[in-house]
Amino acid sequence: MNNNILIIGASGQLGKYFVDKLSLNNNVIASDISSSNEFKCKFIFLDVLDIDNLKSVILKYKIEIIYNLAAILSAKGEKDPNKTWNLNTESFLNVANASIELGIKKIFWPSSIAVFGLNSGLEFVKNDVPMLPSTMYGISKLSCEKLMYYYNIKNVLDIRSLRFPGIVSASKPGGGTTDYIVEMLYSGLNKEKYICSLKKNRTLPMIHINDSVDAAIQLMNVEKKCLSIKYPYNITSFNMSPDQWKQVINDLGYKFDVDYMPDFRDNIAKSWPKTIDDNQLRNDISWKPKYNSLVTAESILKSIQS
Ligand SMILES: NC(=O)c1ccc[n+]([C@@H]2O[C@H](COP(=O)([O-])OP(=O)(O)OC[C@H]3O[C@@H](n4cnc5c(N)ncnc54)[C@H](O)[C@@H]3O)[C@@H](O)[C@H]2O)c1
Repeated sequence: MNNNILIIGASGQLGKYFVDKLSLNNNVIASDISSSNEFKCKFIFLDVLDIDNLKSVILKYKIEIIYNLAAILSAKGEKDPNKTWNLNTESFLNVANASIELGIKKIFWPSSIAVFGLNSGLEFVKNDVPMLPSTMYGISKLSCEKLMYYYNIKNVLDIRSLRFPGIVSASKPGGGTTDYIVEMLYSGLNKEKYICSLKKNRTLPMIHINDSVDAAIQLMNVEKKCLSIKYPYNITSFNMSPDQWKQVINDLGYKFDVDYMPDFRDNIAKSWPKTIDDNQLRNDISWKPKYNSLVTAESILKSIQS
């Protein structure tokens, strides 16, 4: 398994973790329009909206596999819906078109629990349910899910995807509805009061960054015949409200107070799953999460301090 891999959007919350893990066994090129992370591999500036440059990068570095992480997330996306639609859908299409033309073997593109909506049965959301997302982020992700399905059934590309829930990492998040998850860990460490944008009892699914990256890489490495669906898989680990998450952090000895001042982000969270059924993924690729809520908080707090 030694492939030439291009990671697009590598400077964001998830990018560095994908770079570090994939670099262990592959030749990785990290790329972004900003350079906020330090990488162990080569980093290049690449605007995914510039398809000519994307194609020349693919050719220059003999890229075989692409991880396309570039996006504008849910909360930030509502501030400029047109820009969100343009970036999220055009980045998907540019990667798809360049890949078809230049023979890329596989693409990983993350979707999100933002594709679900109030009609999705939010108490326990199965993989295939009605979906009416209420944010431009969710709408753009759902549209790309349909494009992904189209390219997969036409057999012109092999695109694989997970619908990530709120991801817990040491790296700071970039404008999502679940940013409070990571921000609370920093408040716990700094003993600072935290102002939470969600209601205290607003339950959402979450996952440790290592579990999400491992699942994505495992999904990319299994044989195509193991995959029973040609669109994204649900994935989850544990479910928590902000108040329960605060309690987990407090129980680890990091005492801090929270004021709950719900804003538009609570409305977004209200339209997202409380819990998720990811059995299809677990069965198809034999995956399960390694980190529960307590171990997640403990390990991320430790890695922030190291
Ligand atoms: N973080 C989460 O909790 C979460 C949850 C669900 C899904 N996801 C998905 O995972 C992916 C990565 O998320 P993240 O949290 O790292 O996002 P992020 O906002 O932290 O990072 C996105 C990166 O994309 C880059 N980017 C923006 N425009 C670009 C362009 N034109 N060309 C190249 N790069 C560009 C940004 O500079 C940024 O570094 C996204 O597709 C997101 O939708 C994340």
